[in-house]
Amino acid sequence: MLVSVALVATALVAVGLALVGRSTETLPVADGAGPAPAPSAGGTPERQTLRDLMPPGVRIGTAADGRGLSLDPAYRALLGTEFNAMTAENAMKWRSLEPLPGVHAWAGADQLVEFAQQHGQAVYGHTLVWHSDVPKWVSPDWPAERVRAVLQEHVTTVVSRYRGRVWAWDVVNEVLDEDGRLRDTIWLRKLGPGYVADAFRWAHAADPAARLFINDYGVEGRTRKADALLRLVRDLRRAGVPVDGVGFQSHLRWDQSPRDLVGNLRRFAQLGVSVAITELDVRVALPASPQKLEQQAVLYRRVLRACLAVPACVSFTVWGFTDARSWIPGYHRGYGAACLFDSGLAPKPAHNALMDELRRQASRGGVVPGPD
Ligand code: XIL
Repeated sequence: MLVSVALVATALVAVGLALVGRSTETLPVADGAGPAPAPSAGGTPERQTLRDLMPPGVRIGTAADGRGLSLDPAYRALLGTEFNAMTAENAMKWRSLEPLPGVHAWAGADQLVEFAQQHGQAVYGHTLVWHSDVPKWVSPDWPAERVRAVLQEHVTTVVSRYRGRVWAWDVVNEVLDEDGRLRDTIWLRKLGPGYVADAFRWAHAADPAARLFINDYGVEGRTRKADALLRLVRDLRRAGVPVDGVGFQSHLRWDQSPRDLVGNLRRFAQLGVSVAITELDVRVALPASPQKLEQQAVLYRRVLRACLAVPACVSFTVWGFTDARSWIPGYHRGYGAACLFDSGLAPKPAHNALMDELRRQASRGGVVPGPD
């Protein structure tokens, strides 16, 4: 009996996953579990969260970190209540999953997926093929067939394991260089440009219901790189490659806004794909000031508005939600304070701006026209 209930639930989720446009899409969760009620701390009245206000069909996600999850109850509480989707910040990357050839370490990724299931969250899988995260044991000196075999094995094994529990995968990440050419990586050198299509086909074979994304940075506005990505996606789809969506990482600076965000998202949508904001953060030059945090809030709001203005935009994900655990200070020297919550987990102006935007749109019954 339990088994058949689980099967029916899985089938329902699969149906939800197969639907494309957000107007018709039911929000799939990791395992068909209903949203968990928001825990109220110490009997205080429950406050509204981003998740409560998000319009149906658009997910609000965050990258999640296994350490925060294991060690910090306040982090867990916010993760579970503010978001209805999560991306593993690092736990599903190849080096984390397969430290030695054929030896898998699933615990970190499994922990995140289980948390998501318990909290009614969709899991966005990140990422199968990324030049920055190739295990050391994969050698560029191997013959091409061997390189191809390990890549195929990796994609197939990981996607199969999470089949039905991951709603979308970043199949390839950052395959373009700054000029819009295919990036010079071990995959391009050994396998030629066809590796991109192959990766999508392998992923599709392993989980036909998963939505398959190509993800990149520097493509949020109308840049040369965005033009090149548009051509790549168009060519892949014309060739019948199962590319379902384009992810716009959106690692932004507080003082620079991408050019024509809405128009750019729309031209991708016109190819027939979903679009998603996949890794939004807005770093500021340190020290942060109230004025910089206000400007940051404007940018967060602008990106949310852009997503909500484009019906093909299926999710809006921030790259971590607290300054206490953000990757920014470690990777962008002199910058920080990039997230929605400060390092003490208090909401910042950016969080208030998103809440305000969602309330306004709800009260006007939909998308507010106007510049992005
Ligand atoms: C980053 C993580 O946040 C760091 O913790 C890790 O050390 C390196 O990767 N683009 C991506 C993400 O697609 O996977 C990166 O995440 C940030 C840039």
